[in-house]
Amino acid sequence: MSAVIRTVNLVKIYQSGGVPVTAVDGVDLHVGAGEFVAVMGPSGSGKSTLVHMLGGLDARTSGEIWLDGKRVDTLSESAWALLRRDKVGFVFQFFNLVANMTVADNVELPALLSGATPKQARERREYLLDALGLTERAEAPPAQLAGGEQQRVALARALANEPSLLLADEPTGNLDSRNTRDVLRLLGEVHKKGQTIIMVTHDARVASLADRVVSLLDGQIVDDGVIPVTRRRPKAGAGDVVELRS
Ligand SMILES: Nc1ncnc2c1ncn2[C@@H]1O[C@H](COP(=O)(O)OP(=O)(O)O)[C@@H](O)[C@H]1O
Ligand SMILES: [Mg+2]
Repeated sequence: MSAVIRTVNLVKIYQSGGVPVTAVDGVDLHVGAGEFVAVMGPSGSGKSTLVHMLGGLDARTSGEIWLDGKRVDTLSESAWALLRRDKVGFVFQFFNLVANMTVADNVELPALLSGATPKQARERREYLLDALGLTERAEAPPAQLAGGEQQRVALARALANEPSLLLADEPTGNLDSRNTRDVLRLLGEVHKKGQTIIMVTHDARVASLADRVVSLLDGQIVDDGVIPVTRRRPKAGAGDVVELRS
């Protein structure tokens, strides 16, 4: 179920009132299947632009994007829409929930669209809403939810079709610590099941859950490091008596 993503010399230049703004400046990124990558960097460093391009929401200026061995930066918008429906879950910074549908329907819809049976879609929705502490809000319209609740619904929706790639832009940006914990637990759970995750975050706690942190500055990768697994020193046991001889 998990996806491999690769970019080659990826560039995005916006035209801002006739002035070119280079948002992403030659990014070569390889993310293996099942990897959990946190993208960090100061505001304006190109994080959102990068993940938007990876999800086909923003067109690249030059360079290549490959998803599971298939070149995708050349796809049409409608082909991208199909790819997102089947393979890519996206949590936006702004939640983009469907206003006239309940929370439950917002979460079930992507599962149904990607071919799940109504029963599968309902079970998936129940699992996700429960994991995120939203079961009691299932019948509410999104407008009645607080910002942090909407954000969690957006995450549930992004995971509803069991995407091979989860892209998330600050998925814990508005959450208090308890809700952040729920989100982290769910991300950890899906990651353990093999979910590939690329996630923009400012939060070091969130990043510490990742396998790897990619740091952006001025649209370039300036650091790309695997997080070392903390090695605990084994405690001395009963058999470790040190004999002192004089
Ligand atoms: N639609 C746009 N038009 C013009 N410039 C943009 C647009 N979106 C982003 N930018 C510029 O691109 C750069 C990177 O932005 P962004 O990807 O949003 O960074 P981040 O998510 O790291 O804060 C910034 O200089 C920003 O002002
Ligand atoms: Mg951003």
